[in-house]
Amino acid sequence: MGVVERQLEELKAECKADDEELIGKVSRGEMIETIEEMSPGYLHTLVEFMLTQHDTEIMSACSYHPAATQMAPTMDAKVSGSAVVQDEIGHANLGYRVLSDLGFDKEALMYERDPKEWRNMRVFDEPFENFAEFACGVGFYDRAGTIQIGDIEENCSFGPWKRYERKVVAEEGFHKRLGDMWFKRLGSGTDRQQETLQAAVDKMFPKAIAFLGHPEKEGKAIKRIREYSLRKGSNREHRQEWLRQVVETFDPLEVDVPAHYDEDADEYVVDLDMDWKGVYDEWKQSPGPVDHIQTVRGVA
Ligand SMILES: [Fe+2]
Ligand SMILES: [Fe+2]
Repeated sequence: MGVVERQLEELKAECKADDEELIGKVSRGEMIETIEEMSPGYLHTLVEFMLTQHDTEIMSACSYHPAATQMAPTMDAKVSGSAVVQDEIGHANLGYRVLSDLGFDKEALMYERDPKEWRNMRVFDEPFENFAEFACGVGFYDRAGTIQIGDIEENCSFGPWKRYERKVVAEEGFHKRLGDMWFKRLGSGTDRQQETLQAAVDKMFPKAIAFLGHPEKEGKAIKRIREYSLRKGSNREHRQEWLRQVVETFDPLEVDVPAHYDEDADEYVVDLDMDWKGVYDEWKQSPGPVDHIQTVRGVA
């Protein structure tokens, strides 16, 4: 049994609510504040969902750091890139503090988990290779973050999480706008800059689509998350909003994204054949963020 499962099993004994009553309560918009008000199922779903976000926050800092700072082309890029890295560590810390208020051992979460036990989105297992990839990271993944975290800030039934997401969403908005600014600078810059951005887009756009989840076949975890009112939107709704913003941003640029607006269907469409089986296999086979773990242990 892993570190998270072991602690979860112990803490479930403190959950006093009946599952069906709790689902009724949160669907009426009532909030949950303490572990006693939770059912074991709610706690389990909440913790898995919170770890996915906050492990992603801290691993994104590790992925962004070399590209955002050491490979930054200008001083303003380096300063704002450093600010992004600092923000991500702060976002992670907010989540681990709330988990520790629920009774989790933060030290064990940081120092005792195997690489495979980290729930971060797999796009952040490794560093990015250049500054254009950092621009795509904040322009694509942090944009997905503003939509997904914005949904939590607006709709989450767990009060402590919902409340601090206001600060996180504001900062993710800054990261997204930084991505937009660099999309414009590189995407209307020299031939070399355009080529570098196009290569980063080609590599990272499909990963962003995978990040947003399957639009039709939502997994069991997302169904439970929505049933417990931890977030409201479907993968499809989040993906449509993300595509709208990205297609509009790239429209005036010399760099292309594989997506367009289909007037007849009144929706945004991805012009890629997504190999979802390949995506799931890659996620399953990943060894986890092996190289980032030492860095995390240095900053935690
Ligand atoms: Fe973040
Ligand atoms: Fe961010």
